[in-house]
Amino acid sequence: MEVKHSPLPFLLLLLLLLFLLLISAMAIAVESRGSPRGGGGGGRSPAAAAAAERLRFRGRSGEFKVLQVADMHYANGRTTGCLDVFASQMATCSDLHHNTTAFLSRVIRAENPDLVVFTGDDIFGFDATDAAKSLNASFALAVALKLPRAAVLGNHDQESTLSREGVMRHIVGMPYTLSRLNPGQCGMEIDGFGNYNLEVHGPEGSVLANKSVLNLYFVDSGDYSTVPSIPGYGWIKPSQQLWFQRTSLENQRKYMSEPHAQKEPAPGLVYFHIPLPEYSSFDASNFTGVKQEGISSASINSGFFSTMVEAGDVRAVFTGHDHLNDFCGKLTGIYLCYAGGFGYHAYGKAGWSRRARVVSAYLEKTAEGQWDGVKSIKTWKRFDDEYLSTIDSQVLWSKGYNGRRRKIPVGS
Ligand SMILES: *[C@@H]1O[C@H](CO)[C@@H](O)[C@H](O)[C@H]1NC(C)=O
Ligand SMILES: *[C@@H]1O[C@H](CO)[C@@H](O)[C@H](O)[C@H]1NC(C)=O
Ligand SMILES: *[C@@H]1O[C@H](CO)[C@@H](O)[C@H](O)[C@H]1NC(C)=O
Ligand SMILES: *[C@@H]1O[C@H](CO)[C@@H](O)[C@H](O)[C@H]1NC(C)=O
Repeated sequence: MEVKHSPLPFLLLLLLLLFLLLISAMAIAVESRGSPRGGGGGGRSPAAAAAAERLRFRGRSGEFKVLQVADMHYANGRTTGCLDVFASQMATCSDLHHNTTAFLSRVIRAENPDLVVFTGDDIFGFDATDAAKSLNASFALAVALKLPRAAVLGNHDQESTLSREGVMRHIVGMPYTLSRLNPGQCGMEIDGFGNYNLEVHGPEGSVLANKSVLNLYFVDSGDYSTVPSIPGYGWIKPSQQLWFQRTSLENQRKYMSEPHAQKEPAPGLVYFHIPLPEYSSFDASNFTGVKQEGISSASINSGFFSTMVEAGDVRAVFTGHDHLNDFCGKLTGIYLCYAGGFGYHAYGKAGWSRRARVVSAYLEKTAEGQWDGVKSIKTWKRFDDEYLSTIDSQVLWSKGYNGRRRKIPVGS
């Protein structure tokens, strides 16, 4: 039989070329999405991105934006179905197969945050066959986008194949994370895993470029009580509170001393999983958002709220844990906020959209047109509906307004 000259090798070569082109296009897309914000400028290699641990306000807009993802409850991906969606939605709903991952992708694209904070129950340990695998999958999108991330533990993260320490160690070892196990320098053992703070500096080239103008605190609120006489959830222990107190004091000292000594402390925001008992201080007349279930705090009061009030720099606290509560209320100068449930493999309410909380801080401009300290902090939520609806926009703090500058007459 006559052997014809086959077009096969040529076709294979063409396919290979197309494949290589596609891969490089994808790499470029990811790279450009992950390029730094604001003052920094320019593309960067993965190594440079990993090294860029310095969070900064954007040089152009003077803004810094945090996306809070609460209770992702990631399990095994495609095979893990959704809870509390309409019966008609069950067949097409799962962690990975659209839904949880798709929502994360859409809200990141819409908000373009400078930092994503995962406030615990990132994985739902009970249903995760391999904790490391689930953690990898739950953070895969944020890793691919090279987005700076911070995470704290919830009460379900350790229910699979890793301990709480194991989960936090895994999280700390992942690319582009800003999470840390615990501070090393404070000369004492600290309860829990994942107590740390992050500084957000002024824009590159600005007067406050080397100062933390916004302080973010992350605390491990534990899982369950280990004290037989105290039932229920865990709480923030004295060792953690002492660490917080010292860190807050040190932040304030640095901010208010030379060079460029500031008159008031930089605002602080605190993130953890389990709400404080003080979240029960509100009703619909004095919060924004909804309360559709009880406040599942520890059964005793750890005193952490008073510790924060006393520290003087904390303006707002953000938790998750109660998926059907998404409100923000103000008590003694501090806003206590929920994010509302995010994940589809987590209890929720059919017809009540999964959601995420956004917090944005804005810098003040001096008369000379220079970026100064933080002027205001706002928050809103995004729904996983067709329009990614924005709801409940509110101001959490404004400089001077709730500060010590304005005297309020006694008795008014
Ligand atoms: C989950 O994603 C699928 C595919 O996009 C969609 O058809 C379905 O409506 C989503 N389910 C919910 C509850 O949003
Ligand atoms: C998780 O991802 C890391 C790389 O970031 C990899 O080394 C590890 O094998 C992964 N673990 C599992 C169980 O897939
Ligand atoms: C901030 O630190 C850098 C590096 O040490 C220095 O070059 C710059 O002048 C400092 N900027 C201000 C405003 O202090
Ligand atoms: C909210 O209003 C209720 C009365 O409706 C009151 O009992 C409660 O103390 C208020 N809470 C705060 C923090 O002001």
